[in-house]
Amino acid sequence: MRLALTLSCLSLVSPALSATFSRRSAFAPGVWTLAQQGTTGVSALEMAVVSETTVLIFDKVEHNPLTVNGHVAWGSEFNLQTKQARPLNPLSNTWCASGSFLGNGTFISTGGNPVVITGQSGLQALRLFTPCTDGNCDVFEDPNRIRLTSNRWYPASVRIEDGSVIIWGGSTTGAFINSAGINNPSYEFFPPKNIHGFNGLKIPSQFMVDTLNGNHFPIVAQLPDGDIFIAANQAAMLFNWRTNTETPLPGIPNGVRISSPFSAGAVLLPLTPENNYVPEILICGGSTLSDTVDPSSISSQAPTSAQCSRMVLTTAGIAAGWKVESMPVPRIMPDLILLPDGRVLVVNGAQTGIASYDNVNDPVGHSNADHPAFTPVIYDPAAPAGSRFTSSGIPASTIPRMYHSTASLTPNGSVMLAGSNPNTDFTTTTFQTEYRVEFYSPPYLSQPRPTYTGLPATVDFGSSFKLSVSLPSGVNTVSVVAIDLGFSTHGVHMDHRSVKLVSSLSTDKKTLTVTGPPSGNHYPPGPAFIYVVTDTGVPSFGHKTIIGTGASPPVDQGAIDNLLRSTTGPQLDLQGSPTESGEGSDTATAVIPLTN
Ligand SMILES: *[C@@H]1O[C@H](CO)[C@@H](O)[C@H](O)[C@H]1NC(C)=O
Ligand SMILES: *[C@@H]1O[C@H](CO)[C@@H](O)[C@H](O)[C@H]1NC(C)=O
Repeated sequence: MRLALTLSCLSLVSPALSATFSRRSAFAPGVWTLAQQGTTGVSALEMAVVSETTVLIFDKVEHNPLTVNGHVAWGSEFNLQTKQARPLNPLSNTWCASGSFLGNGTFISTGGNPVVITGQSGLQALRLFTPCTDGNCDVFEDPNRIRLTSNRWYPASVRIEDGSVIIWGGSTTGAFINSAGINNPSYEFFPPKNIHGFNGLKIPSQFMVDTLNGNHFPIVAQLPDGDIFIAANQAAMLFNWRTNTETPLPGIPNGVRISSPFSAGAVLLPLTPENNYVPEILICGGSTLSDTVDPSSISSQAPTSAQCSRMVLTTAGIAAGWKVESMPVPRIMPDLILLPDGRVLVVNGAQTGIASYDNVNDPVGHSNADHPAFTPVIYDPAAPAGSRFTSSGIPASTIPRMYHSTASLTPNGSVMLAGSNPNTDFTTTTFQTEYRVEFYSPPYLSQPRPTYTGLPATVDFGSSFKLSVSLPSGVNTVSVVAIDLGFSTHGVHMDHRSVKLVSSLSTDKKTLTVTGPPSGNHYPPGPAFIYVVTDTGVPSFGHKTIIGTGASPPVDQGAIDNLLRSTTGPQLDLQGSPTESGEGSDTATAVIPLTN
């Protein structure tokens, strides 16, 4: 493995030590509201908004009330208008899979768990879901033709500039924490590429060796200069997939671990033309617990980290290092959500303990964590350090959202919270399997909102298009942001990003001329929700488009053939193993009785 120590691949465009954000004169006044509406049918361990009205939900195989095809369901599609869930029928277990959209708008879920019901292990699964509007689409799997190169439990994925996806790391089998014996320190592309001499097969990553043990679900983000930011455990790096080069970054300060089971939340702060799209990463929460001790020596009451670490990813920013600040309360497993007004909402998680269940010496029910973090906090990245956090006026939830919970911005601008299930199987005892959905509506939703029409189905890079806008009275200027709502699981929000587009408003304030993102590194080609935001911070509904041409990512048939020839395919039919257990011990062969 080549390890280049040069920083030459970094952006040299801006010497900024801290990215400058165009500070809003005001954020919308009004009240926050919290509404509990609908249920997901399966517990929302994984979640991705797939259309203007629907949300894809994946759970693990367990005794959910929802059924499909004569067996329990572990996938559903939640309708944001009717607040109803319809079951989906993935064939393999989606438990702890990753998720990303391809450049043509098809969603892929990769990896998972072997617990079976349909005879198909999820460890090498590659599931496709093409969103539809008629309520008839379902998950597509054909492991003989489409699969990963190797087993991956807790991998991460990221969409890159050509609309393909890179899948990173994970374990070859189930475990509470990664370790050398089960590590899969490699990455692979979908569709597979013939690159670096591996011709469709997995490519080793030294970083995923060096970051053992706590490196499940690494934090991954595509950067505007073509590099990919990757953080795991206490380390971070820049990765160039074209040259297969890992460039170390300063480690996370103060001994904080940031990936599962020490799950922090992370987000790439909004990229804007005003700051020349200088990327800045924010990682909040996690834990300073050891990643080598026996988990039975850990307590559910162990303190978690309140630290947020923020770094500008330019040569100068990296030289200046991480800037550290503190959330009002410590959290493990928080979700960081980019709002259309440029702020970050921190929701969900627990104030003590660690991720997963049935591992620590004093579990609460089965949970390794306790003291749910019920009150969200807003982070304003453009405010002066020391005054960026506020929970003022935000109602607390009463529903614990800890391990296996999710959150996402919705097209309408609210934030949907779902899931929480620190349990082997469905339970109504503490902390129960959670199906209830909540929506946080920021104050901007109580204000008169802009509306627009005319969004093209695709928006190519640098191309210009016109929107017909209707602005509330008194609004003088607007901005336009393209948000990838991403894929939520375990506090990680794969591909979630906000890119402000260059725009200009006609003098009669009725026509907005907008330019697509500069490149596929700024916004990897794929789905985006376009919000027109007033100068007072009130967003329109975010209509969906596809950035780029909507074309399928490049396919190398030789690499696919080599993958299929060289790999054994999924382990089939693990039924018969008697083990029933949590993630702590023998999940790889756990089979729970699944006849209803
Ligand atoms: C969007 O949010 C507003 C304000 O909460 C609400 O009145 C409206 O019904 C929502 N629209 C959709 C399509 O969800
Ligand atoms: C998107 O590309 C993938 C990979 O080639 C393909 O399997 C899928 O069918 C495509 N989706 C659409 C909608 O064309």
